[in-house]
Amino acid sequence: MKRVLSGVQPTSEIHLGNYIGAIRRFVDFQDEMDCFFCIVDLHSVTVPQDPKDLHENTLKLAALYMAVGLDPKKVTLFVQSHVPAHTELAWLLQCNTYIGELNRMTQFKDKSQGKETVTTGLYTYPVLMAADILLYDTNYVPVGEDQKQHLELCRDIATRFNNKYGNTFVIPEPLIAKFGARIMSLDDPTSKMSKSNENKHSKINLLDSPSKIKKSIMKAVTDSESQVRYDLENKPGVSNLITIYNILSGISIENIEKKYEGMGYGAFKKDLIDVVVSTLEPIQQKYYDIVESGEVEKVLKEGAEKAREASNKVLNEVKKKMGFVSF
Ligand code: AMP
Ligand code: TRP
Repeated sequence: MKRVLSGVQPTSEIHLGNYIGAIRRFVDFQDEMDCFFCIVDLHSVTVPQDPKDLHENTLKLAALYMAVGLDPKKVTLFVQSHVPAHTELAWLLQCNTYIGELNRMTQFKDKSQGKETVTTGLYTYPVLMAADILLYDTNYVPVGEDQKQHLELCRDIATRFNNKYGNTFVIPEPLIAKFGARIMSLDDPTSKMSKSNENKHSKINLLDSPSKIKKSIMKAVTDSESQVRYDLENKPGVSNLITIYNILSGISIENIEKKYEGMGYGAFKKDLIDVVVSTLEPIQQKYYDIVESGEVEKVLKEGAEKAREASNKVLNEVKKKMGFVSF
């Protein structure tokens, strides 16, 4: 059985970009593949985190994973910091990764730009991500477009290690959707929807109320025309909204364009609000049921045990190949 692994950071709220680009797609794999989905709390602390928020957001994300439909009986849900092999392998891989490679990472450049101080953790972040993936003999990694470069680095590190020490790592394939892998900000359709954007109307969070969703969509930047037409270059705002509509409703882009022909943006936005609210309402309902049931902790404990067991094989092999003494 092929193995799938992905991770999401428990940093602030989970938004529609995370859902469309990643989490929603995880559910599609759970019946056919051996899936590991991780809450990457160690990645979150590469930028400052309030300890109380980190704690809360970790449990929240676990409940959300289940609320979108991941079944802990079918997949392994776990918290990265519960499996020490991740940090241990990350160190070993850091000693097989070059500064020049990390200097090329665009996410590091973006996240460090304009900051007075930047942690070394933010710099070596992609190596920890490579460890997350390589520890599990992962075949496929479903992620959004912004992770493409990190996946390429992971493949390079793994290939180099295999060439140097003999075949050890499975080389993973990124699974990036052709459509919806980069949902844009509602307030600025030239930048991606991002957790770190401080304007709350730049994004829709999965736990947003219908009135917040309505406000954010009504405020969403479009253009001075009034035609609902998919044209990424000239109409990025409207095209982003059409993408969201298409993915959440299943109605084709062509049919969306036809449906709103000559009607302007008002009617389109009003229906998009309904599409988003009716997608998120059942998820929210399930989320609150799961939180109330108190099952999250048990699921994460069992997940950690399974992940610890699954990851030890690769870690031990790496250490043996590198020459570490073990008894
Ligand atoms: P993060 O919030 O950075 O942990 O991202 C979790 C997952 O969501 C990763 O697979 C990202 O590639 C994906 N993702 C984040 N932002 C977006 C976005 N705006 N559009 C599509 N996918 C995204
Ligand atoms: N870096 C990813 C992000 O910010 C999160 C992540 C960490 C991840 N480890 C991973 C994704 C392993 C896939 C596989 O979105």
